[in-house]
Amino acid sequence: MTQATPPEDWLAYLAWRAEQTRRTCRYLFRRCGLSRGILVDVGCGAGHAAAPYAALHPGLRVIGVEIDPAILSRAPDELGAVVGDACRLPLVEASVDAVMFHFTLMWLAPDKALREARRVLKPGGHLLCCAEPDYGGMIHEPDPGVDRSMSSRLMRGIERVGGDPLCGRRLTGLVGDNGLRILEVGSAARPRHYPPGDADAADELERVFVFRTLFHPRSGPKWRRRVRSALKAGGYFEYLPVFYLLARRD
Ligand SMILES: C[S@@+](CC[C@H](N)C(=O)[O-])C[C@H]1O[C@@H](n2cnc3c(N)ncnc32)[C@H](O)[C@@H]1O
Repeated sequence: MTQATPPEDWLAYLAWRAEQTRRTCRYLFRRCGLSRGILVDVGCGAGHAAAPYAALHPGLRVIGVEIDPAILSRAPDELGAVVGDACRLPLVEASVDAVMFHFTLMWLAPDKALREARRVLKPGGHLLCCAEPDYGGMIHEPDPGVDRSMSSRLMRGIERVGGDPLCGRRLTGLVGDNGLRILEVGSAARPRHYPPGDADAADELERVFVFRTLFHPRSGPKWRRRVRSALKAGGYFEYLPVFYLLARRD
């Protein structure tokens, strides 16, 4: 996923994703009373998930740790940006109030990253896995019919570059093995209905297909064309499960 210059459509995709989970992130931040102290956003990308929240809470210091300096250079100033590896966080033990991941654990060695999260958390500090998808649970209607194993191909594409397309369903097992107490799990995604002839719906689906075509280059464009004609004909319904998990270090 590391690239010299992050393409604008990839940044637009990340911004769109963060809009979809804004309510869940706000809920999790509120639930653990995060308005002061230090929050670390691991694999923060350009900071779309945490930076807006940092701007709202001047008492909260948000540190974004990201392995790719090019994308990190696009993060706003509210985010204290640090180039670093999730598996070797450049932070001392028991020094931060919360650690968050947002569409990031699926791209890491999650057991190592979670061990690091636990190491840097103060006792009583919170782990926020804000959003991790599960591509094995996707639903489409009408089925775009590229072929019957469209989701499996996308999953294999994600696996080829070291990602875990089933990370969402594995969150509880991963965190449970890591000595953190799970407080809550839930869904960070709602089903989407795209009505026929709706220009905004078509735009949104274009963003989604930036991601899908990246990991599914052969049939991604075909998939996009089929969804476009479904959109014209009678609308399109889709559900991609995305889960969150909140835990505390005792
Ligand atoms: C799908 S992006 C999500 C970015 C951001 N969390 C968001 O939701 O907008 C995953 C990010 O994790 C970063 N990443 C991957 N492996 C990493 C590692 N070992 N340490 C830190 N960041 C990493 C990638 O460079 C990428 O920016």
